[in-house]
Amino acid sequence: MDKDMSKLLSPGRSVLRNSLILGVFAICTVGVIAFIQQGTSERIAAEQQRMQMRALNEILPHDQHDNDLLEDSFMVADQSLLHLPAPATAWRARQQGQVIAVILPAVTLDGYSGRIDLLVGIRANGELAGVRVVNHRETPGLGDKFEVAKGNWIFSFDGKSLELPAPEGWAVRKDGGEFDQFVGATITPRAVVQAVRNALLYFQQHRAELLQLTDQEASHG
Ligand SMILES: Cc1cc2nc3c(=O)[nH]c(=O)nc-3n(C[C@H](O)[C@H](O)[C@H](O)COP(=O)(O)O)c2cc1C
Repeated sequence: MDKDMSKLLSPGRSVLRNSLILGVFAICTVGVIAFIQQGTSERIAAEQQRMQMRALNEILPHDQHDNDLLEDSFMVADQSLLHLPAPATAWRARQQGQVIAVILPAVTLDGYSGRIDLLVGIRANGELAGVRVVNHRETPGLGDKFEVAKGNWIFSFDGKSLELPAPEGWAVRKDGGEFDQFVGATITPRAVVQAVRNALLYFQQHRAELLQLTDQEASHG
């Protein structure tokens, strides 16, 4: 009778045992994936930070300011011109305490593959100190000519301002403007040019606050 009973119960036991093995296996797999994901996102964050620091130093090299840019950061929140989905870090460059330039984060969603993240350096006089793309998904070899390693295009912003070129010049040549498009790729440079001009407009509208001007300085500016 006992033998018969154990025979009857054994299929149930093996189902239970297999379920347990499967459960343990599933938990281990989830754990391994979570571990790998954690490591990967940490590496991506570290790489993005490294790129950001390099971009800051390229836009405003050490010899142009006497403060530590990384120690002189502040948050900006703007969706109308900078198109920031969340508040983001900006930086002030100083000489003897006076703000001589700012580096603003800017986003455009109009890239060929959507979002492109930029850093836009603007001197106190409203001239561009430099622009760098710090994050994008544009097509390699076609839509990524804004990268320093791929050419000089990104330097075409240096020294430009809202007045130079005039508003109609702030477009790619195909649209009647002054900025080259990329060979076979107009969408990306069009988006970047507009994003940079929008950052200049933001600077113009918030100049006193960004440069930490006194009321008197602001009224003369
Ligand atoms: C697979 C593929 C990838 C492309 N990637 C880009 C890109 O990253 N940036 C871009 O501006 N255009 C890209 N293009 C080209 C655009 O579709 C478009 O033809 C080009 O930007 C010219 O735009 P326009 O007609 O507004 O002048 C890509 C086209 C293909 C077929």
